[in-house]
Amino acid sequence: MKAVRIHEFGGPERVQLEEVAIPKVTRGKALVRIRAAAVNPVDWMVREHLYNPKGADRVPLTLGQDFAGVIEKIGAGSKTSLHEGDAVFGEVFGSFAEYALAPLKDLVKKPASLDFKIAAALPMPALTAWQAIIDTAGAKPGMRFLIHGASGGVGSFAAQFARWKGAEVAATASEPSFDYLRSIGVDPVIDYKRDRFEEKLRDVDVVLDPLGGETQARSWRVLKRTGTLITLIGEIDEDAARRAGVRAIDFGMEYDVEDLEEIASLVEGGIIKPHISKVLPLDQARQAMDLNQQGNSHGKIVLEVL
Ligand SMILES: NC(=O)c1ccc[n+]([C@@H]2O[C@H](COP(=O)([O-])OP(=O)(O)OC[C@H]3O[C@@H](n4cnc5c(N)ncnc54)[C@H](OP(=O)(O)O)[C@@H]3O)[C@@H](O)[C@H]2O)c1
Repeated sequence: MKAVRIHEFGGPERVQLEEVAIPKVTRGKALVRIRAAAVNPVDWMVREHLYNPKGADRVPLTLGQDFAGVIEKIGAGSKTSLHEGDAVFGEVFGSFAEYALAPLKDLVKKPASLDFKIAAALPMPALTAWQAIIDTAGAKPGMRFLIHGASGGVGSFAAQFARWKGAEVAATASEPSFDYLRSIGVDPVIDYKRDRFEEKLRDVDVVLDPLGGETQARSWRVLKRTGTLITLIGEIDEDAARRAGVRAIDFGMEYDVEDLEEIASLVEGGIIKPHISKVLPLDQARQAMDLNQQGNSHGKIVLEVL
């Protein structure tokens, strides 16, 4: 099978499309024929050895995590309600390949009406946004959110979940995504390349911060006292939070199949839509990761695996 692999951690030049053996299925696992895989920042962070959770910490390594596909074979003796031939989606290390071996407990049945590319675009960004905006921030009518990077994978779901719960959403993004963000009810949409969001916003209840640094430093002053800043990148200036009188939360997504099922049913109902900006073939995985790393994806890039 074809797989997008590295033999050493490092830059884009380490990425190779290789022919490797199809993995052997074992108890508790399913061999999944991948139909689509989505690119997240974590994919190039793994490649660069910046963030390597267990399972993505040794080379040689097949890159990729989010995917949708079809169960080809289930390990003998496995207890599961899933069947061979079922269409599924979820997260597994090594999804940039024609096949992946995934724990059965991590698989979610794909609603029949969802395209594989749509399902592949959900796991990491939609789960992160769901747990940050609904579980952590408790979005509800009367609340005002500022979502930074709202054109991106997490931000585009975060803006939609907050709107779905009846909250007001302001966002920062760059020009290619303005029409998209207005179409999902974001107001105002602030151009981070030209305007200073802190001069346009006040009394925000929750800031979602996927960037840290200067963006976080300028965000404290837009929050209400008692407001909350949720950071996705593990970076909090505690002194600045204290001075602003706000709560700062270092958020980490936890993979959860029930949350993912709920998200999929909202997508099936047309209430929530992933913001897919590009579909590329598997053999352009390296270029897809580069586009994301250089800040040029302006939405989710999905790899189609034929
Ligand atoms: N803690 C967790 O559990 C968790 C989970 C998932 C992701 N993350 C992290 O969250 C971050 C975002 O992930 P993602 O998947 O949403 O990434 P992404 O799809 O690459 O989106 C990043 C977005 O940031 C925007 N951006 C860049 N510079 C900006 C600025 N100065 N101000 C406002 N927006 C700016 C870009 O907007 P334009 O395209 O409009 O220019 C882009 O759409 C990454 O660092 C990722 O590793 C953390």
